[in-house]
Amino acid sequence: MSNFGEVIRQLEDFVLAENDLYGAGRVPFEHEGETQYGYPYVRSSHRLFEEAALVCSNLIPKPVHDIRFLEVGCGLGTKCEIARQHGMHATGFDLKSEYVTLARQIFLDCTFLEANALEFDYGEFDLVYYHVPFFDDRLLFQLELRIFSHLPIGGVLLVTNFSQAFQRAMYDSDGIRTSFRSVFFDPGLELGDLQVLQKKSIFDVQSLAGLS
Ligand SMILES: C[S@@+](CC[C@H](N)C(=O)[O-])C[C@H]1O[C@@H](n2cnc3c(N)ncnc32)[C@H](O)[C@@H]1O
Repeated sequence: MSNFGEVIRQLEDFVLAENDLYGAGRVPFEHEGETQYGYPYVRSSHRLFEEAALVCSNLIPKPVHDIRFLEVGCGLGTKCEIARQHGMHATGFDLKSEYVTLARQIFLDCTFLEANALEFDYGEFDLVYYHVPFFDDRLLFQLELRIFSHLPIGGVLLVTNFSQAFQRAMYDSDGIRTSFRSVFFDPGLELGDLQVLQKKSIFDVQSLAGLS
């Protein structure tokens, strides 16, 4: 980890401990009549995120200061601030209001909202990032379908891991399935553990869901 990432990590640890949020458990929420559980606040690497976000911003056909970045399950909002420092408009949302309140106090130039990822509208954003918001692979797959159906053409999804269901639906041994090559672009970037897909055209969500 770079020194920058380590400094942020220590500050985050301090803020979480001071607010009694360190090690806060899984996050319950209602979805389709059942209680589901969001993944607790376990952070992904700041350095890998920063490198990947910069590469992704170059895929998007607009100047960096016009790019609308969104972090799903943003916690304290550090990834949003990194995106903003690189010139993007940054928005983050989280289910847990305590995180959103703190993020608003710390990073004044980003926008933070309290929202559920499975109900959010992703249509306004060019670059969406998440790191395991859910335990359940089926919910993660629902989230991926939702994001890709909402994203504008040219929009990019950057994640630490696509769901198993999404990967089964999207890829075969030759990479992206032939039937999806006109819809999704995999830039094949070397981004550590991070994965990226760009939306190339409007698509029928059911065509993907049916393959899982
Ligand atoms: C693994 S942490 C990721 C933290 C940060 N994004 C990062 O990359 O370091 C997952 C976050 O997702 C949030 N979360 C869980 N379920 C959610 C949901 N249904 N909608 C929005 N956020 C959710 C949690 O509160 C937590 O902050």
